[in-house]
Amino acid sequence: MYVSDLALDDFRSYRHLVVGLEPGISAFIGPNGQGKTNLVEAIAYLSTLSSHRVGADRALVRRADDGEQPGGAVVRAKVVHGERPSVIEIEIIAGRANRARLNRGACRPRDLAGILRTVVFAPEDLALVRDEPGVRRRFLDDLAVMLRPALAGVRLEHDKILAQRASLLRSARAHRGRGASSSIESMMSTLEVWDAQLAAAASRLIAARIEVVQRLRPWVESCYEAVSDNQSEARLAYRSSLLAHEGAIDPEPGPAWEEALTAESGLADAAAVSARLESAMGGLHAREIERGANLVGAHRDDLSLFLGSLPAKGFASHGEQWSLALALRLASYEMLRHDVDAYGGDGEPVLILDDVFASLDDGRRAALAAMVAGAQQVLVTAAVDADVPEGLAGVRFRVAGSEVTRD
Ligand SMILES: Nc1ncnc2c1ncn2[C@@H]1O[C@H](COP(=O)(O)OP(=O)(O)OP(=O)(O)O)[C@@H](O)[C@H]1O
Ligand SMILES: [Mg+2]
Repeated sequence: MYVSDLALDDFRSYRHLVVGLEPGISAFIGPNGQGKTNLVEAIAYLSTLSSHRVGADRALVRRADDGEQPGGAVVRAKVVHGERPSVIEIEIIAGRANRARLNRGACRPRDLAGILRTVVFAPEDLALVRDEPGVRRRFLDDLAVMLRPALAGVRLEHDKILAQRASLLRSARAHRGRGASSSIESMMSTLEVWDAQLAAAASRLIAARIEVVQRLRPWVESCYEAVSDNQSEARLAYRSSLLAHEGAIDPEPGPAWEEALTAESGLADAAAVSARLESAMGGLHAREIERGANLVGAHRDDLSLFLGSLPAKGFASHGEQWSLALALRLASYEMLRHDVDAYGGDGEPVLILDDVFASLDDGRRAALAAMVAGAQQVLVTAAVDADVPEGLAGVRFRVAGSEVTRD
């Protein structure tokens, strides 16, 4: 698939932008702070409804330095895929829920899930290897939604139940302090209802993540081999808080690779996982009330990354971490591209490379350029022409002061 038209209103530094795009490679070139990342961020936002740079949508609405503040931002794109194009639009309203449109008709934002597939690789991606598990959960969940759009609803539902259960746990803690036994009893029966609901939603999320991990696995291995010139193999395994609770894996992160893989296969049956989660929660009530937090479930899981037999986090060198992050993104692209079920086989995502060539050494640069040369649509940003590898001919756009002009 590819994006043929993009229009922005009051998105980040853009007051108003309309730009036509083509399949193949497009490079957006300009000095620092001119709006290159803002432009590709808008496209990525339409795909996942979240930014790769910030958690809060408020930053995405243009801040006018003079006069009236815009109340919201609009991002609209025409996506060409399969037989018929789709026009998707999202209005980001500061402090309120987004509004969405599909082919000019109003829809729920979640109905846009999976329509535009993107894979973004950006300098921030080192976080995939280094940072806290939440970054990797989001990586898996975004891919799971692109593969199976219905999961967008499950994900929202899961997060809602999680928040409600946490709030119940906190009020139970407060009541316990005051010794009000009748209200504690009613809270305990409400808690059991939440246990069942959370277990059901979490088990669906876990099953979807494991599917992603399994489909991604061979691609991560081959992409890591292509972008790194050393011998170790990149491996990944789903790390579940349920298994840690059941004692099947070491509660401290960093089990051996084989152990992690065997553990993952113990989560194959989603209905059984739901029942096991519910019983784990039942056994944890006292501790959960004490802590005022949900202690087991999809929200405590992680994706373990290994180079050879060592965990990447804490062991891999800076260059290895960078290669692994790149391999995870390229593997995502390959996995989606080979997903023949989508759009009559046109599930190939738009590949976005934000400011990455400048930070790669020659070997990795050449490997990446070779891998993306045949992609259906690649959007590259760079400060200067020389940062775009020569092999990547294509359309060049100049970006200056949030104005975009085609060469
Ligand atoms: N909500 C906003 N309203 C107005 N301006 C914004 C907003 N968010 C970011 N900006 C401005 O956009 C500019 C950054 O644009 P962007 O990140 O796209 O730069 P870039 O061209 O990618 O630069 P670099 O080469 O340094 O990565 C900054 O000047 C920033 O102040
Ligand atoms: Mg940038």
